[in-house]
Amino acid sequence: MSKNSSHSRAQWGSHFGFLMAAVGSAIGLGNLWRFPYLVGSYGGAVFVILYLVLLLIIGVPLMLTEITIGQYGKTDPYGSYQRISPRISGFGSMALLCGFLILCYYGTIGGWVTYYSMVYLFSLFGGAGIPEGKAVDIFMEMISRPGIAISWHLVFMLSCIIIVLGGLDKGTERANKVMMPALFIILLVLAFVSMSFKGATAGLDFYLKPDFSKMSLSVAGEALGQVFFSLSLGMGAMLTYGSYLKADQSAKRNSVLIPSFDTMAALLAGFVIFPAVFAVGMEPTSGAGLVFVTLPEVFNKLPAGNLIGFLFFVTVFFAAVSSAISLLEVVVAYFIDQKKTPRKKATLSVGVIAALLGILPALSQGNGPLAKATISSLFGSPEWMSSIRLLNLAAFDLLDYITGRIMLPLGGLALCITGGWIMGKEKLLSIITKDGERPFKLAGVYFFIVKYIAPIAILIVFIQALSGG
Ligand code: TRP
Repeated sequence: MSKNSSHSRAQWGSHFGFLMAAVGSAIGLGNLWRFPYLVGSYGGAVFVILYLVLLLIIGVPLMLTEITIGQYGKTDPYGSYQRISPRISGFGSMALLCGFLILCYYGTIGGWVTYYSMVYLFSLFGGAGIPEGKAVDIFMEMISRPGIAISWHLVFMLSCIIIVLGGLDKGTERANKVMMPALFIILLVLAFVSMSFKGATAGLDFYLKPDFSKMSLSVAGEALGQVFFSLSLGMGAMLTYGSYLKADQSAKRNSVLIPSFDTMAALLAGFVIFPAVFAVGMEPTSGAGLVFVTLPEVFNKLPAGNLIGFLFFVTVFFAAVSSAISLLEVVVAYFIDQKKTPRKKATLSVGVIAALLGILPALSQGNGPLAKATISSLFGSPEWMSSIRLLNLAAFDLLDYITGRIMLPLGGLALCITGGWIMGKEKLLSIITKDGERPFKLAGVYFFIVKYIAPIAILIVFIQALSGG
């Protein structure tokens, strides 16, 4: 089954394999890094509730729509949209571009995670690890030293390239079948450890008891953006994975299972992080630094902190790799399906180009004073690094903004337009139910959401975000 030549397209080895790969795509930095820091910054439980509600009413229906488009199209995003109507093949191009751009900057954080896993690994064998009070310095040093920032970014990208080179079933599927169960086991253990600390209940209160005064449209906007990002929706990852799914496998069931696992991982990450953070008397509001700066200090105060740190960052590494592979896999699928490029060549070229372009965002984070000092000692010119700016944003932030705030919502809108308006009720539902063979009780509600509710919600949030919200 693993022949990827043009005449026999790859398929998943097993249904479990597909599920783990899709879950692997969904569970990523979005769950273990982004979700906790958004919860920490946007008022705790209120964000969690908004997230869950939006996930249920918009995330799940659009997941079903995206997998169905792939299962129907049986090819990469470009080809799948084109098969539905040549007028909308542009949706596919946008998805591919978006996936590629996310891949470019995903490697930045992926590199940080790889570096932290290594620092903690060595700490188990006598290395210094991240000594008390030093987490900020170590973080700053990592992001501002070009040597560290670039090499670990490249190590991360290389890991992904190697897995995708292995092929759909022998690489992507097999890696995920190991990494995903391991991830859940480690997270569960860590959550129990974290909740057993004295003083953990303050963290649980913050995480679970909503303070509704913190609710606002902009928090809802962040939550909806997070739904898209976390579920890998809107840029063809689920579409591509769905395209390798046989017609008799139910997209509907998977559209419930994938978000369920994804949400469990995100919620578990919260149960690992918040009780521990509060137990040692720290604040969860440090934003993007929560996992890289606050958490290591938390680990420092815990028994067996280095071991916990190692397990945590290895888990994040697994999650990040499995998501990055899905981003790579989307673009690779395009070249295999549309351009008949052999998998090896497609993977290597796309992967290497993304890794090289990814050096820009990887470097662009080091704009602080320490960064400038380090660079000036290395290169004599403190200015060049901060000049990696486009439209006055650091390359990383620019990519994050363009993909997260503009392209993913547009990709979501593309799903609604395609499913709700272009395919239409009859066609969409007949594919999902396999001409009525499979029951679908909520079909009416589902379609109403795809056609009206979801696009309106996305538009509101989109306009609000563009207007600077
Ligand atoms: N979902 C992944 C995460 O939570 C990131 C990701 C992988 C993604 N593939 C994607 C995001 C496609 C958007 C679209 O980290």
